[in-house]
Amino acid sequence: MPKFRKVIVRSPASTANLGPGFDVFGMALEHPYDKVTIKLTQSNKVEIEVHGVSSNTIPCDPFRNTAGVVAGQMLKEFGLNLGVSIKIEKGVPPGVGLGSSAASAAAVAFGLNELLGLQLDHKDLIRFSAKGEVASAGSEHADNVSAAVCGDFVIIRSYDPIDVIHLKAPPNLGVCVAIPKIQTLPKKTEKARAVLPVEVPMKKVIHNVGHAAAMAVGFALGDVKLIGRSMHDVVVEPARASMIPGYQIVKDAAIKAGACGATVSGAGPSIIAVVDENDHTSESVMEAMKKGFRKVGVDAEVFSTKPGKGVSLIWAK
Ligand code: HSE
Repeated sequence: MPKFRKVIVRSPASTANLGPGFDVFGMALEHPYDKVTIKLTQSNKVEIEVHGVSSNTIPCDPFRNTAGVVAGQMLKEFGLNLGVSIKIEKGVPPGVGLGSSAASAAAVAFGLNELLGLQLDHKDLIRFSAKGEVASAGSEHADNVSAAVCGDFVIIRSYDPIDVIHLKAPPNLGVCVAIPKIQTLPKKTEKARAVLPVEVPMKKVIHNVGHAAAMAVGFALGDVKLIGRSMHDVVVEPARASMIPGYQIVKDAAIKAGACGATVSGAGPSIIAVVDENDHTSESVMEAMKKGFRKVGVDAEVFSTKPGKGVSLIWAK
């Protein structure tokens, strides 16, 4: 017996990797977010409508849409003979490295859990949401979905079995985001994963392990400067930098303007920079990032945000 017939859910954007934590670190953002309405129907089908930011680029076919894949999988696993209607109001722009597909996937996993009173825990919600990532990215990486489910900062200690560690982000952590207005290829994340090295020299492993460990400590201690200076990756970032025009110029400009660190957000092409709000505002960093992109003839949308909470219920009946 369903607990509700209709729920409205808010699900956040997220940034993955944070430099050295490829497929391991994720952080939910306060803005932007998706608003997703989920209803039970008599149709025995999963039906999807997508509105909002760049919604014309998102498939409504439930087998190709990340939210549809999650709903289909949950109905199948729980043996439920029900229909589901999903209306997605996109706030998180797709294809820019801000966890857009993860936001929709987490919204549906969380929303169906609420509707049906399934009492799933974070681990289950992450497992179902990660299935949706296959539809959009071709792989079951769980960094964005874990951040969207749990909020704040997450570390995926293990994928099999899934074990996610969740830490609060420091209140003085500001996040500047620059989204370059460049043409991205379809299946962008799959392509950005295909350029990664298959083997990594030990020297680079040592660098990344050191930086990843220090970043985790930065979150545990609430030390924004340590988080920022740990944001340096010598494995994935160099491979992807060439896909983002002006990457090094923008990163250097952000740091010169007072950011503690900057890196590619997820699979890009967005760049994120972190700011210690105790001694800096985000304005100069955002401006520097915009100017950096302009130097290479690229217009960019810039905004500032903060770490944010995970997926949550707005309304239920
Ligand atoms: N960790 C993933 C990647 C995130 O960098 O490919 C993609 O959103």
